Amino acid sequence: MNPLISKPADTLSGTSIIPGDKSISHRAVLFSALAAGKSEIFGLLEGDDVKRTASAITDLGCHVDSQGAGRWMIAGCGIGGLSPPNQVLDMGNSGTAARLLLGVLAGYNFTTFLTGDKSLCKRPMDRITAPLSNMGATFTTSEGRLPIAIAGAERLLPLEYHLPMASAQVKSAILLAGLNAPGETTVIEPEPTRDHTERMLRHFGGTVDINPHKNGGNSITIKGQPELVPAKISIPRDFSSAAFPIVGALILPGSKVKLPGIGVNQGRIGLLTTLHEMGARIDFSNNHENGSEPIADLTIRHSELHGVEVPAKRAPSMIDEFPILAIAAACAEGPTTMHGLKELRVKESDRLSAIIDGLLASGIQATSTQDTLTIHGVSGRPKGGNENAIKTHFDHRIAMSFLILGMCSQKPIVIDDGRSINTSFPNFVELINQIGGNISDMENQ
Ligand code: S3P
Repeated sequence: MNPLISKPADTLSGTSIIPGDKSISHRAVLFSALAAGKSEIFGLLEGDDVKRTASAITDLGCHVDSQGAGRWMIAGCGIGGLSPPNQVLDMGNSGTAARLLLGVLAGYNFTTFLTGDKSLCKRPMDRITAPLSNMGATFTTSEGRLPIAIAGAERLLPLEYHLPMASAQVKSAILLAGLNAPGETTVIEPEPTRDHTERMLRHFGGTVDINPHKNGGNSITIKGQPELVPAKISIPRDFSSAAFPIVGALILPGSKVKLPGIGVNQGRIGLLTTLHEMGARIDFSNNHENGSEPIADLTIRHSELHGVEVPAKRAPSMIDEFPILAIAAACAEGPTTMHGLKELRVKESDRLSAIIDGLLASGIQATSTQDTLTIHGVSGRPKGGNENAIKTHFDHRIAMSFLILGMCSQKPIVIDDGRSINTSFPNFVELINQIGGNISDMENQ
């Protein structure tokens, strides 16, 4: 365990260079593996999760070369060209790595064993194994969870699949599998979800057709067995990581923070809509497209926030940002209610419970139902000063959210373990301290 303490800060100011986007980094590595030839990636997130994907494709026969400062060269094997690994693939804490890789492996006629850490082995995988079984892959699972043995199909079948939940991971796994099947594979989502897979497939020369579906989501069709061409990819900086300094700067009086080069894909920035409704001053500048994704520089100024209702249909576009929104809501004036949070129960931890427990331990009033969360904001600095360290359940976003709460409270907040932060934002403490935060190891107190 590595307990961390976050002490009250005055103001956040300066420019911060946020690391690369985690979702897009996983996909960049996987698509590079599926293209025949050398791809070059710039700004790859070098966190534990993405390293798991990189090491898995190495075990599957690709040559992967890290050249420093986020620059990676990957010599891909082409669709159908991966070879059987000679060890179990350990996906660590990463649901995205495990689920997307199962999609890739569905079309390879060999058996692969996948496992993960304690948290990942609790997360549902049947949402992936069910559709991939319909395509012809076979699975032995631990009651629908990792560890899993997957035997890919000799001849994978294309599929038309209605997603039962708005999940970009499930959508992407099926589309990645469909690349190895003849004909067209179609996924219909109940609500729009992040479209990084679709964008990156086009970037590597694949064909994707996206049409709005009458149910409110999109119908996405890909053509199987394309020849993917190697590409140069520049990864935008991660909006989900930017969310932490964004909320810190909004809450702390006098703050002004600039975050250049942030990915602002519509499927990811529901938090900005919510924060704007709460009264936030966040400006976009230098909007442009970076190969396949929209990018902008964000400027955030301290703002007086008030509580709002967050509709369920916005949940997919801010699914990873509810823990940090909870911190903004705790410091806002009046109650905030968030709807449609059922999926939070199956993230790196049961995030709904982790948020409630942490808020209550920090003296903030909050209540939840199975899929809603209501937080009673104190309009300013909450008390903080928790007696027992906040339990993070090895969940990076719970850890970072409560460290931001510590900066914005009257008394410090201690979290039980900061190691999970390495999965998505390895230099979080350093970057936050550079702009005015005060986070340190408990041992150095
Ligand atoms: C992700 C999709 C989301 C998100 C996760 C990353 C992705 O998960 O929570 O952190 O990269 O596709 P779901 O697909 O389970 O909603």
